[in-house]
Amino acid sequence: MFKKLKDMDITNKRIVLRCDFNVPLKDGEILDDTKIVSSLDTIKYLIDQNCKIVILSHLGKIKDKSDLRKNSLVVVAKRLLKLITSIPEYKDVKVIFSNHTRSNALKEKVDNLNNKEILVIENTRYEDYPSKYESNNDQELAKFWASLGDIFVNDAFATAHRKHASTCGIANYIPSCMGFLMEKELINIDKYVTNAEVPFTVIMGGAKLEDKIKVIDKLLPICNHLLLTGGIANTFLKALNINIGFSLYSEDEELIKKIKDLLLQYKNKIVLPFDAIVGSSYEKEYTNYKTIDKIDDNEIIYDLGVKTINKYKEYINSSKTVFVNGTAGKYEDSRYANGTKELLNILNDAQANVIFGGGDSVSAVHQFLKNNNFTYLCTGGGATLEYIANGTLPALEALKEDDYEVLDI
Ligand code: 3PG
Repeated sequence: MFKKLKDMDITNKRIVLRCDFNVPLKDGEILDDTKIVSSLDTIKYLIDQNCKIVILSHLGKIKDKSDLRKNSLVVVAKRLLKLITSIPEYKDVKVIFSNHTRSNALKEKVDNLNNKEILVIENTRYEDYPSKYESNNDQELAKFWASLGDIFVNDAFATAHRKHASTCGIANYIPSCMGFLMEKELINIDKYVTNAEVPFTVIMGGAKLEDKIKVIDKLLPICNHLLLTGGIANTFLKALNINIGFSLYSEDEELIKKIKDLLLQYKNKIVLPFDAIVGSSYEKEYTNYKTIDKIDDNEIIYDLGVKTINKYKEYINSSKTVFVNGTAGKYEDSRYANGTKELLNILNDAQANVIFGGGDSVSAVHQFLKNNNFTYLCTGGGATLEYIANGTLPALEALKEDDYEVLDI
């Protein structure tokens, strides 16, 4: 249905490759290069096939002028060069950078590219300032980027939920397929989430229930247990009229009604915390252990309590598959990181296939575990959730359309 890289005749061709190099940065330094490392298989294959490789990626959001300086992709191009040339067979690979996203000079750079060379183009979202050409899937921009290649390879799974010029538009104009990373992500989600071996446990956490309700809806019928943590759990507790003090929850009335229905329909599947580590709404230093039924009006639930963690451990240890999305608490604050850390340790020791759905939960894996035995860590949070909820993504749909318009630029 979707064309894959190995289905295409790409030898000696010019490839426009969309990667997701949207890595976390601090003071201009890359904090975690997993997304770049994950793209190397496709890049190596394209080099082996003697291709000229033109890479597109976004980095952060470009809303005003100051974002342009903060989010230049040059730091990523440098890391890519370091990573690829550290592999002995690829030690001579050249990585060139274009600080233009659309110009004749960029076209010339592509024309001068040799086989096996890589050209990284500046952040695609530079085209969002001052007008949102990239994010609005502007077709002139998509046509221009398509003109830089013979084939479009989309390997940016983590951005596949965005209908942008670089993720969808290009596929209208040249033959297109998915890269190895995109393929790997879909295979793993299909195998370990949508068709998970039972007993199947889902652990959902994080702040906003609005972002996750569609996935919860999709997974409740197929999972055996849904263990809730974080702000999401708070909203479920609130729907049961349990006092959660000053804790974060979603106030949307329709959502609360929906949750009440789910709690009735799936009362044997939905598992909620029954103890917590709490802070105070007015006293910064205050932290305390509380069972959920004893929470005071001024208290804020920030982490799971030890009894809940032990209960969740029983569910995890009797599962064949566990899907995790979101963290257990406010893990950035060391006073409230225990639940996140302990759950990670329990999951790491478990016999089950454990798959993480991107976002904060994957950042926590990298932060708290030196090595892990997990089955798969998805590179995209939003994309993973949308793929589970809808069974497809805009950038995948774009790859389906075989009737691309022949370019005449
Ligand atoms: C991500 O990191 O989730 C993706 O790169 C998408 O980024 P975005 O939310 O800025 O579109």
